[in-house]
Amino acid sequence: MQDLVDSALARIQSAQTAEELQAVRVEVLGRKGVLTQLSKDMGKLPADERVSRGKFINTAKQALEEAWERRKSEFERAALSKRLGAEWLDLTVPAPGVKPGSLHPITQIQWEIEDLFRSLGFTVLDGPEVETEYHNFDALNIPPDHPARDMQDTFWLEGGHLLRTHTSPVQVRGMEKLRLLENKALRMIAPGRVFRNESVDASHEHTFYQLEGMMIDRDVSVGNLIYFMKTLLTAIFRREVSVRLRPGFFPFVEPGFELDIQCLICGGSGCPVCKHSGWVELLPCGLVNPHVLRMSGIDPKEWNGFAFGLGLTRLVMMRYAIDDIRWLQSGDLRFLRQF
Ligand code: FA5
Repeated sequence: MQDLVDSALARIQSAQTAEELQAVRVEVLGRKGVLTQLSKDMGKLPADERVSRGKFINTAKQALEEAWERRKSEFERAALSKRLGAEWLDLTVPAPGVKPGSLHPITQIQWEIEDLFRSLGFTVLDGPEVETEYHNFDALNIPPDHPARDMQDTFWLEGGHLLRTHTSPVQVRGMEKLRLLENKALRMIAPGRVFRNESVDASHEHTFYQLEGMMIDRDVSVGNLIYFMKTLLTAIFRREVSVRLRPGFFPFVEPGFELDIQCLICGGSGCPVCKHSGWVELLPCGLVNPHVLRMSGIDPKEWNGFAFGLGLTRLVMMRYAIDDIRWLQSGDLRFLRQF
């Protein structure tokens, strides 16, 4: 009998799983278990043996119950600590949070140029993207039948409105404000989005950014214009870049120039961005046409000025050697994460 108890105790101790432990309970302590059987058999024993058998069974039952409970709580503790281990959280680890984004390269360069021109005494103006035909064309000396309108393929809207094709209408809006002031001197820049109904390729978008600039004062010369253009390009590229100045036609400037930059993608040998010419049109400019001043109520005998229309998107392409304009509005994070 003692052997039975010892082997049951040994099985309880060596049980490896809760199921195994439960099986031992059924076999030893259960209704059909060994101890129950021994209790049942007691009736067949002589009276004197019955007492000692009863004691033995009670002691054995108690020992087995205790051993079983102890082993069971060992299993429960192990299960609990396993669960806690799996659920454990290190509350001191910093929260993952939102990954910080970055400014779009066009915004970065735009802000750099704004800072530069502010330091030179220029005001930063904003203008509407939905413009009137008057501000976008007529007031810039481009009347309805003028061929210059064809150079800027326009998205027309209803009611004489359009999506502005350039930032030059902000010149007009700037001058209109000056009309009311006695001192007509003005130094302004106007960055913004413009729209053209163009076929898209490596260097042309239908939606792109320009940065307009205008200075009106007494005795403004081409010398002033070239000084500001050089200051702008040196600040942006932080190195010597080759430029060429050639005559350019825009009805709102006279004389007008095209300032091109030697293509920084191919170094001037020719590629799709510079249309294999080695040069990229970047910065058309000129002295403000007296007629334009007059239309905005400024006396050209007393005041004159220069204006420029920087191709901001193209400038960003040159600065970062981006070989296709379509990257800039692609929304592709692999591209954007580089800035
Ligand atoms: C103009 O838009 C004139 N308003 C610029 C100006 C202002 C001249 C003030 C004189 C005085 P143009 O159409 O050339 O000019 O465009 C100016 C610049 O915008 C170009 O040199 C080029 O860098 C950029 N650009 C023009 N079309 C596109 C396009 N589809 N995609 C990207 N950039 C363009």
